[in-house]
Amino acid sequence: MVKIEVLLRRGLPDAIWIETGTFLGDTTDALARQASHVYTIEPSVDLVTRARIRFEGRSNITVLEGTSEMMLQPTIGGISGDVNFWLDGHFSSGPAFHGAFHGASETPIIDELQTIERHLSRLGRIVICIDDIRCFRSGNEGMPTYPERSFLVEWADRHGFSWEIEHDILIATRLAQS
Ligand SMILES: C[S@@+](CC[C@H](N)C(=O)[O-])C[C@H]1O[C@@H](n2cnc3c(N)ncnc32)[C@H](O)[C@@H]1O
Repeated sequence: MVKIEVLLRRGLPDAIWIETGTFLGDTTDALARQASHVYTIEPSVDLVTRARIRFEGRSNITVLEGTSEMMLQPTIGGISGDVNFWLDGHFSSGPAFHGAFHGASETPIIDELQTIERHLSRLGRIVICIDDIRCFRSGNEGMPTYPERSFLVEWADRHGFSWEIEHDILIATRLAQS
């Protein structure tokens, strides 16, 4: 899958990954073949159960049950050093996404970035990959809680990240503390 290839190429090679939205765990699996550890957060109890069965015996994968809003803060709080984020925990509709969780808003991205912000001074190098950038626009019917793309760009600029968009993924990179 092209998005997995982008993540593997653009992520910091020796860093931990934190993924929000495990779904079936395909990206978790690929990231964990390169990374020292992958923490993946998923609110759907059924999907968590499936992922824990799939990754049984894979000691560098931790499947955490709960929303990003609940679990991202304690997860980041427990790590230090360089970190890659795959922020992909959002509502996904359609038959392919049967069983996916739908919370109070379509995307927890604002909460996720506020949480990451609280840890910026403590962490090392950081790469943040945000999926589905095409959805971040006004007049996005059916997904009214998505912020504007400018919100993401301004957040990245404000915190000294360079950023690019590749295959509908915004990749924000901070290689040194600003
Ligand atoms: C597009 S899928 C994730 C795909 C997966 N990351 C991959 O690369 O294969 C979105 C997932 O986010 C989950 N989700 C929905 N709301 C969430 C939230 N508030 N926090 C974390 N995950 C959430 C859904 O249950 C679903 O499994």
